[in-house]
Amino acid sequence: MKTVSGTKDYYGTEAQGLRYLDQLLLSLAKKYNCQEIKTPILEMTQLFTTSLGETTDIVSKEMFTFPDKSGDSLTLRPEGTAGITRAIFSNSLVADLPLKFYYSGPMFRYETPQKGRYRQFTQLGVEFLGYENYQADLECITLAWEFIQKLNLTEKVQLEINSIGDKQSRENYKQALVNYLTQYKNELSPESQDRLNKNPLRILDSKKDQDQVILKNAPQIKDYLSDGSKKWFDQLKKGLNLYNIPFVENSLLVRGLDYYSETVFEITTTEIGSQNAILAGGRYNDLSSQIGGERVPSVGFAAGAERLLLLINEQIQPTSVEFSIITLNNSDPVIELSLKMIKLLRDQNYIVDVPQNESLNKKMKKANKNKSKWAVIIGENEVLENKISLKNMTTGEQTNLEPSQLVAYLSNK
Ligand code: HAM
Repeated sequence: MKTVSGTKDYYGTEAQGLRYLDQLLLSLAKKYNCQEIKTPILEMTQLFTTSLGETTDIVSKEMFTFPDKSGDSLTLRPEGTAGITRAIFSNSLVADLPLKFYYSGPMFRYETPQKGRYRQFTQLGVEFLGYENYQADLECITLAWEFIQKLNLTEKVQLEINSIGDKQSRENYKQALVNYLTQYKNELSPESQDRLNKNPLRILDSKKDQDQVILKNAPQIKDYLSDGSKKWFDQLKKGLNLYNIPFVENSLLVRGLDYYSETVFEITTTEIGSQNAILAGGRYNDLSSQIGGERVPSVGFAAGAERLLLLINEQIQPTSVEFSIITLNNSDPVIELSLKMIKLLRDQNYIVDVPQNESLNKKMKKANKNKSKWAVIIGENEVLENKISLKNMTTGEQTNLEPSQLVAYLSNK
């Protein structure tokens, strides 16, 4: 039976890996005083059109949007930042600002599925709302980097940063970029020609060779930053150096969402193919006003859990069984003693499996396959003597013990 295109079932070590990533980032985020937030997967469509930008790829072609039965237009959230900013106003949290949040959950984008790109995917992220200084950007990137360090990925990734400045810097730069690119209008790719009027900064993102050639000599945003934006970015870079966080400046990094200002950053890898961004974020000082609230300068990031999973897959060990309970027959006393042992061990928090196979041979094979550390073997003799046979599956050594002695025996091991 088929799944919906771009969606996938996660089980076994992959499901374990996703849970691990979520718990790891949550535990790190707590050190930065983040609290958890869970916002709805369904939001009013307008939330995204007003915040992400009408001309962005997400809004113009990637949203799962549909009318509900009362005719309201709803959208499956394509990202988490807009919903969390909305939550500040919906729950009257403005008076409690500044606030830091951690979130994780499914996001939806109607993109062409490929390795690392899915229509349902999981983002793990943080948002620092109501913080307007470079220190908050530094904290945010430091948290992202700590996450990467804990995953042993520092050698496989690169942190890229850029400043797209304040509104005025961006306006000035946009004008200079449009003036420059207009000279080469006919040589640009059709997509970039289209963006020239609608969203010129996004042309910087183009991977097309013909655009890249033209972009080589294009004006750079760093030459258009206001004194304030320049100082902000310089201080951030100083802070990253102070914390020994390696980074490269990428003047072409503009991000695919309209709500950013000042700092933007991405962590990329060359190890998983073309979908190379595993974590991305930046400052968004005007998102809250765009959606109708007051100004709440903020910064945050989101990591793509499935992409991270492609990088850490080998690190995830399947949980191995500690005890396999092997019954030699199905007589009532044998089953009853096995039930007692199962409970006794699980009460001690051991991982217990009960192989369901018919023969002793097959049950032992299953215990081996599960990498079980111990087998507790119970047959008629064990019932008569009120003992169990405990087999060490690594050494093959076997001991007879009264059930009540088992816990003490194991604690000596
Ligand atoms: P984004 O760059 O659109 O930013 O997505 C963040 C991360 O989500 C990407 O770097 C990637 O790892 C993952 N991702 C995005 N689309 C897909 C997909 N189709 N399949 C698998 N993974 C994907 C945002 O969403 C911003 N809200 C980040 C942010 C938070 N900025 C400030 N705060």
